[in-house]
Amino acid sequence: MHRLESMSNPIQIAVVGTGYVGLVAAVCFVEMGHSVVCVDIDEAKIAALKSGHTLIHELHLPELLERYRNTRIRFTTNLAEAICASDAIFIAVGTPQSETGDADLSYVESVAREIASSLTTYKVIVEKSTVPVYTNEWIRRTIESNGIARSLFDVVSNPEFLREGTAVTDFLHPDRIVVGSDSEAAAALLERIYAPLTSGAYYDRPGAIPGRCTATSPPPLLLTSTKSAELIKHASNAFLALKISFINTVSNLCEATDANIEQVARGMGLDNRIGPRFLSPGIGYGGSCFPKDIAAFRYVAEQLGIDFNLLAEVEKINTEQKKRFLARVRSALGTLSGKRIAVLGLAFKGGTDDVRESPAIDLVELLLAEGCSIAAFDPAAMQRAQEEVPAGPQMQYVDDAYTAAANADALLVLTDWPQFAAIDLKLLHHAMKVPIVVDGRNLFDPKVMQQYGFTYISIGRPSVQHSRALELAASQTF
Ligand code: UDX
Ligand code: UDX
Repeated sequence: MHRLESMSNPIQIAVVGTGYVGLVAAVCFVEMGHSVVCVDIDEAKIAALKSGHTLIHELHLPELLERYRNTRIRFTTNLAEAICASDAIFIAVGTPQSETGDADLSYVESVAREIASSLTTYKVIVEKSTVPVYTNEWIRRTIESNGIARSLFDVVSNPEFLREGTAVTDFLHPDRIVVGSDSEAAAALLERIYAPLTSGAYYDRPGAIPGRCTATSPPPLLLTSTKSAELIKHASNAFLALKISFINTVSNLCEATDANIEQVARGMGLDNRIGPRFLSPGIGYGGSCFPKDIAAFRYVAEQLGIDFNLLAEVEKINTEQKKRFLARVRSALGTLSGKRIAVLGLAFKGGTDDVRESPAIDLVELLLAEGCSIAAFDPAAMQRAQEEVPAGPQMQYVDDAYTAAANADALLVLTDWPQFAAIDLKLLHHAMKVPIVVDGRNLFDPKVMQQYGFTYISIGRPSVQHSRALELAASQTF
């Protein structure tokens, strides 16, 4: 398709579910030139979105929503009306983990049934939520079993690969767009939807969100079968989680041998076959995707009689990594009970307010159970964190890193916010009772920390001790 043509070929799209994935997808489709109606069953959410509140912390999202709020994006709780008005219906409702580990598809099912009750003309239904292989077929059968003729719809798999915090840029500058379709007509519609990106036209537009793709280097669109697309999503997330568990284990080896994980990861990452990304050691992966997707993928393999115990190991290493971090805090402090701990970071990673499956929250809970008192700060996730761990006599939420550090026996870095790396170390040192920093995200240079008088323990790198800090810690032990 010609570049200009691809920018002036708007499609009517409905996005069902306005969470982290649905809302970003919707706003980006509008940015690409399409018209979108967003549907959610949560009336309060729809009301907030109508008045311009994005409700989630996501770079570029507020400005894009504001730009299009009164033009090509609208919000409703009326799914039937949205279906009627659209050519493509993207399902982006949550697919949480069920008790047995598999993905709970009940929200997807209820949306599929509602779509079935409103179909009168041909529509393409797109599964955007992360779902197990065969879900596409299952959605198709669900709709058919509601008496809808096969000629009236197709179901396509179009998995998302967005990272929270950089989701808008990831959407508009993807490494690849995967479209799993067993129908040529449906695949053609998806190709038209993504044409502003794949043709490169979007990147030439004034005011386009900047990123790695350009008009001369646009993203590829990979057409696959529906089952392959479903497997690509789960396999990609599982592989990334595996990479993290792998580097975390190597970081433990570094600690045991006094080697340095930064050097090891760099040496590995320079090998093009391995690549440098997702080799940052830490306190384990979290978030709304990796934990549940690895469990769901393992469940799928089990159901199909495929031994994928490798994934069980990935999960086990991830759990152990948090315990290992706690053990290191304990050994730095002598005993945990009664200690005042400053916590920097509550979100599952920097750049987001999301605390779902956050290893930082898990560690806060473990520390509270050990009898610590905590003063915590996060630039974006304070409100959501308080819903998980309410404030109380032992759990204080404070307004900045220095207040958190005030009179602390140790400071823990649990989320990789860039602002933490830019902290004034002199002020921080001054605020603390005992200058011990245990960094679960390797944000600081050990040598610099030593110069500022900290005892500094990080992941997979030699610790530095400062004698004054050690003296103070020893005097506080009993
Ligand atoms: C998404 C994907 O859908 C999930 O499969 C993926 O693995 C992670 O990201 P996310 O956007 O994070 O989930 O979910 P959430 O923030 O919970 O948003 C889902 C939205 O769907 C909510 O606003 C909810 O109110 C809405 N919803 C849910 C509906 O509109 N209808 C329903 O039947 C159920
Ligand atoms: C992930 C996938 O990256 C994305 O493609 C998919 O669509 C949704 O799930 P997200 O959950 O937003 O995205 O975060 P991601 O950046 O992948 O990080 C996940 C977890 O791994 C975080 O807790 C993060 O801190 C941790 N992580 C990541 C590491 O510990 N080390 C790394 O090198 C990278």
